[in-house]
Amino acid sequence: MNRLEGRNALVTGAARGIGRAIAEALAAEGADVAINYQSSEADAVSLAQEIGTLGRRTLLFKGDVGQRSTWTSMIGKIRQDWGRLDILVNNAGITRDKTLRKMTDEDWLAVLQTNLNACYFGVSAVMNMMIEQKFGRIVNISSFVGQAGNFGQANYAASKGGIIAFTKTAAMELAKYNVTCNALAPGFTETGMLAKVPEQVRAQILTRIPMGRFGKPEEIAKAVLFLAADADYVTGQQINVNGGVYM
Ligand SMILES: NC(=O)c1ccc[n+]([C@@H]2O[C@H](COP(=O)([O-])OP(=O)(O)OC[C@H]3O[C@@H](n4cnc5c(N)ncnc54)[C@H](OP(=O)(O)O)[C@@H]3O)[C@@H](O)[C@H]2O)c1
Repeated sequence: MNRLEGRNALVTGAARGIGRAIAEALAAEGADVAINYQSSEADAVSLAQEIGTLGRRTLLFKGDVGQRSTWTSMIGKIRQDWGRLDILVNNAGITRDKTLRKMTDEDWLAVLQTNLNACYFGVSAVMNMMIEQKFGRIVNISSFVGQAGNFGQANYAASKGGIIAFTKTAAMELAKYNVTCNALAPGFTETGMLAKVPEQVRAQILTRIPMGRFGKPEEIAKAVLFLAADADYVTGQQINVNGGVYM
């Protein structure tokens, strides 16, 4: 316990789903946690209260991670109030599922902006601080879809595959400063994102998962915790937490 005492973290899209489980796990291990959210205000406030009851500090940031200006203000405030940032988890993500024949440019661009461009904005916003500290742990949430592809998800697959390639390059460039950068690729996980998938399709998906069940957000969070707290000599990797759906 308290493996992250004295560390602080920023988790994007932290109010609900996988991001919330990650924020809770980091705080439970002793980290102060800054919470980014876009629209889930009540959930973000309740998360901040929950983290406060653990005796940890929090900062609440409402903002679209696909905009550079959101990062400028979040990192400026963290620098001012906390003086450093040890852990960044780029978790926020969206889907706009359509086959290529139905996909619009807007569907493509929106998913790339929120999932991939935000990841670049985030890493570029925090890297100077982490380089100065000679310490940083960056975890980018990808997806097995970025490795395997998935019907109706060309935009999402491209964004998540891009995250893996981006992560490896950032890892190479930042390694000598003791800043690690890894991608975590979940399989189908029980959150609002999966709930949007029609019941019949979810039943079909289950038949493809060797472990025969969907993942839980807490199971993804455990792997993030490993990367943030224990994986000092792990960088440029993609860690798969997917019940075997892609091997
Ligand atoms: N669930 C799965 O099966 C699965 C599988 C593989 C990978 N993933 C990845 O895991 C991550 C979390 O997904 P989830 O399943 O927890 O999804 P979710 O339940 O739909 O939650 C998405 C989160 O992203 C935030 N978000 C979306 N657009 C944002 C923006 N522009 N700026 C800031 N925050 C934004 C949302 O914030 P608000 O609610 O505040 O708007 C919300 O907290 C995503 O990157 C997703 O691609 C999920």
